[in-house]
Amino acid sequence: MDTSAEPEPVRYGDIVLIYIDERRRYIVRVEEGRVFGSDKGILRLDELVGRPYGSRVKLSTGVEALVLRPLLDDLLSLAYRRRSQVIYPKDLGFIIYIADIAPGKRVLEAGIGSGFLASAVASRLRPGGRLYSYEIRKDMAEIARRNLELAGLLDVVEIKVADVRSGVEEKSLDACLLDMPDPWNALNTAYNALKPSARLVVFVPTVNQVEKTVVALRRHGGFTDIHAVELLLREYQVKEGSVRPSTRMIGHTGYIVYARRV
Ligand SMILES: C[S@@+](CC[C@H](N)C(=O)[O-])C[C@H]1O[C@@H](n2cnc3c(N)ncnc32)[C@H](O)[C@@H]1O
Repeated sequence: MDTSAEPEPVRYGDIVLIYIDERRRYIVRVEEGRVFGSDKGILRLDELVGRPYGSRVKLSTGVEALVLRPLLDDLLSLAYRRRSQVIYPKDLGFIIYIADIAPGKRVLEAGIGSGFLASAVASRLRPGGRLYSYEIRKDMAEIARRNLELAGLLDVVEIKVADVRSGVEEKSLDACLLDMPDPWNALNTAYNALKPSARLVVFVPTVNQVEKTVVALRRHGGFTDIHAVELLLREYQVKEGSVRPSTRMIGHTGYIVYARRV
């Protein structure tokens, strides 16, 4: 393990993860005079300033906590506001891979909803990439804007309050991601916006929508290599001598349909 890099210290204004245990994980902004409170005790946030990330700190009760730099996963699961159905990590990972999201790419998305997919995508577009997110509802666009700002990703994303079905001004895009109730009505938009060979990826929560999307893609004629998949993720409970799947699991999120523009 390379330990040569100087550990980064916590500064005023930082957003930190206070990790007490698996169920007690909190995202807080370090501000002068601010006190963090939990059922395990309180902590004066001034005490964190100057300590390296990864440090152990003691709450007022003597219970230990860790101060960690939050990953995007922590922000999405603990700090983001949810006003819509959101895309879960298991699906986010596959969407990013299949859409070939990478630095410098230009991507279209609709609708932005709470900005979960937008954040996962935007965080992989730097340097030079851009996400154009169309959202029909102004209030949803505002929630997404607030969430993206928290993650420091707003500069990568252009949020447009508009109906994606009416077309978009962007052209020659590298990928198009649709998470909306009637993606089959946005196929012309996707076709006109995408570069030939680029992927269209659609996320829908019901099999009825999968059928309508795939039938519409075939009829459209501008897409090929059409697939519909569902991903299942099972967490494991690992105890020495007793390793088995957890009793609980997220049973359903949605289906992913993907195709290529010809
Ligand atoms: C399920 S949410 C998207 C959630 C988002 N993918 C996330 O991970 O947070 C669907 C969004 O699509 C928006 N929407 C529905 N029809 C639309 C359209 N024609 N054009 C743009 N946005 C649309 C809705 O207002 C809603 O915010």
